[in-house]
Amino acid sequence: MAAIDSAVLDRLREAALEAAKNAYAPYSKFYVGAALLFDDGQMVTGCNVENMSYGLTSCAERNALFRAVSERGAGHKIVAVAVANRNGAASPPCGACRQVMSEFATPDAVVCFPGDYGPETMPFAEIFPRSFHFDGPGTGKPGRS
Ligand code: THU
Repeated sequence: MAAIDSAVLDRLREAALEAAKNAYAPYSKFYVGAALLFDDGQMVTGCNVENMSYGLTSCAERNALFRAVSERGAGHKIVAVAVANRNGAASPPCGACRQVMSEFATPDAVVCFPGDYGPETMPFAEIFPRSFHFDGPGTGKPGRS
């Protein structure tokens, strides 16, 4: 797992919890925030945004990532992720968010989230092993690069 200063991880967790204040979650009332730390030291946050057509809801982690790419381009790698919620519940990143983040996260990126028995921290490759890879258009098959 990447060596990230514990004070930096604390700030990341706090930023995620702060971002969760902006969550738009009138349906589930589950208020999630995510903070991503990139390899250039920049932090980008996001919150979940629900929709009355429930399936169109977008998670905090993906919103943070899409915001980061929209604002700064796709040239930066995620080195740490913190997820938090304002419900005092467990909230590891969902499978869809793991897949999306995997395209930008280093395998040893640190992932922090509230687990069933308290805060958990683990490397990205452990929380999302054997991720889908795609060699690119024209190959006709998925595969590892
Ligand atoms: N949610 C997230 O924001 N991140 C996750 O990783 C899992 C779930 C949100 C989506 C929805 O607004 C609410 O939590 C309940 O599922």
